[in-house]
Amino acid sequence: MNLTTAHHDGPVDQQSSEKLARRGLELRRMSNEMKEFEPWFEAVSRGFLDAEPTDVQRDATHARFDYRRLIGVIDSTGVMPEIPVGTFASWISAVSLPGEHVVTTCAISDVTVAPTHRRRGIARAMMEGELRRAAAVGIPMATLTVTESNIYGRYGFAPAATAGRWIIDAKRASWIGPDYPGRLDFISRAAWRELAPEIFERVRPGRPGEAKMPGGYWDRFAGTRPDVEKPGKRRAVQYTDTEGVVRGVALYAITENKEDFTKSHLEILSLISDDDAAHGALWRFFIDHDLIGEIRMDEGGIHDPVLWMISDQKAAKVTLFDHHYLRILDLPVVLASRTYATPGRFLLDISDPLDITGGRWLIDIDASGSAQISPAPNAVPDGVTEARMGIGELGAIMAGQVSAATLAAAGRIETTAAVALARAFSWHEQARLSFVY
Ligand SMILES: CC(C)(COP(=O)(O)OP(=O)(O)OC[C@H]1O[C@@H](n2cnc3c(N)ncnc32)[C@H](O)[C@@H]1OP(=O)(O)O)[C@@H](O)C(=O)NCCC(=O)NCCS
Repeated sequence: MNLTTAHHDGPVDQQSSEKLARRGLELRRMSNEMKEFEPWFEAVSRGFLDAEPTDVQRDATHARFDYRRLIGVIDSTGVMPEIPVGTFASWISAVSLPGEHVVTTCAISDVTVAPTHRRRGIARAMMEGELRRAAAVGIPMATLTVTESNIYGRYGFAPAATAGRWIIDAKRASWIGPDYPGRLDFISRAAWRELAPEIFERVRPGRPGEAKMPGGYWDRFAGTRPDVEKPGKRRAVQYTDTEGVVRGVALYAITENKEDFTKSHLEILSLISDDDAAHGALWRFFIDHDLIGEIRMDEGGIHDPVLWMISDQKAAKVTLFDHHYLRILDLPVVLASRTYATPGRFLLDISDPLDITGGRWLIDIDASGSAQISPAPNAVPDGVTEARMGIGELGAIMAGQVSAATLAAAGRIETTAAVALARAFSWHEQARLSFVY
């Protein structure tokens, strides 16, 4: 059985199943057939405070959901027992780590528990069980994005790619960046839907923290699925270089400012490019756009070069937020799956609240940045420094964005070699994830 099937069709975790059964609840893998999907989806919508899904929303999601493993918790004593009181979804994905390494991951979403059944350990049972299952089938890492930040640390997750919410005062910003020799053209949303994944796939491996994006997400961005409201508000542009190669595409929507039509709001929904010129040219298109007062972009990079392409840096406000959470499930595999910035020898003593992975490991990084991982001896060898931390802290520094020195200063890593550790785990490419799970 391949990994995707083993994950998608595998049984639920015995331990969590028994734990919930003792409370009269059933942990169940739900099929993707409409009769099970529909009540599951209804529960997810309710859990995220949405209205009952319309037929169009249900069908559009159902048509694009086969790749997900769906979990439900059933309370057969309830008034509507077919609607699960707990939901959870996961799928096989991949996350990039420094040095163009791509690690197979278990991406997690749709975690909800009915408000009538909250704080009885249902979410914990689903999460623990599904993480154990993912580790058991050989997936080395789990990932998610969060609505509330204080839920997932207890399971060994931590934010590894911070995102920036950009708000730019367009009237103040004024472009001082280069002139670009290529050309800009409007394209249809359908053309954007074709081009964007191609360009994204070219850059994804080199961008730590970035994940494979499921097809339905591209359709949602483009408005090429029937459940997207006002799809026509989304406009798409492309940048073509002087050789005729499309190097970047962007998608945006404008909301009229009724109080002052010259200061309407422009939201950048997606900006994807495979070179600096396309990135700059698309930003320039937005900064120079007539009749715009405010430009907004969520899930932006935190070190976007656009800051150095506008005359007034105070015109840009960047709010940082924890975005892509990683959870290491197979420590030696993940440690060996990135390039390190500097050589060094460290003994990592890693604790795991769920005892899935962890332990004491020796990491030996050579001059090329490749690491050999081996079980550590009891005594710390000469020339090696020890660092103690939780599995979450290790996940946080894996993409090279969060500094080990910062976590040491915060008391989250114990070591006498914080600077050496920080240098080794740092990376020059900014980590980011350009969508929400
Ligand atoms: C968040 C949610 C899934 C929690 O479900 P739950 O079944 O009540 O959670 P559990 O009873 O299993 O609690 C597990 C642990 O998480 C803690 N916890 C749960 N929800 C929390 C919250 N919102 N904030 C802080 N801690 C929370 C509990 O205190 C408990 O801690 P402990 O086991 O370490 O003592 C549920 O409240 C929910 O559906 N919320 C709305 C949707 C949502 O936000 N989903 C998360 C998407 S990222």
